Amino acid sequence: MSTDQTFGPAHSDPDPDVITVLLGQHARVKNLFIRINSATGKAKQSLFDELRELLAAHETGEEIVLRPVSQKAAGDKVTDARNAEEKEANKVLTKLEKLDVDSAEFNAAFAEFEKSVLAHAQHEENEELPAVRAQCSEEERQQMGKRLLKAEKSAPTHPHASAAGSPTA
Ligand SMILES: [Fe+2]
Ligand SMILES: [Fe+2]
Repeated sequence: MSTDQTFGPAHSDPDPDVITVLLGQHARVKNLFIRINSATGKAKQSLFDELRELLAAHETGEEIVLRPVSQKAAGDKVTDARNAEEKEANKVLTKLEKLDVDSAEFNAAFAEFEKSVLAHAQHEENEELPAVRAQCSEEERQQMGKRLLKAEKSAPTHPHASAAGSPTA
């Protein structure tokens, strides 16, 4: 399901600020977690697939477009930590996608996954995005927004644990 809808409403904006796009995607991720937690069977599987696709695209876009800029704006310590969290999340996603979404094993691992993904997004919102907002002009952020959406469109729809977390992946 790689429609424009996957990447959020900012798509209709011709000059999307990278921060607006990323915050919109974080909101969609949070909403999908809530919906998955109250779904079962095919509906749950389909929502999980949507989350997996959105996260694969979102984290790829961040690694390609956001990190090289935020590394200068927020420092190596911050970007190394975020890249490591994304790498770990991809490993967990690879495990989760092999499980039955209605199994106790899935639910236990998914609850942990939700906590770490939401904490990861919160770190980005608290440290990385404010640094980029402070150090980049509106025009630069719009250029980044365009590049991010382009990178996300060509991102894999499944996580690749071995390549994740690397800005060159
Ligand atoms: Fe991220
Ligand atoms: Fe993010």
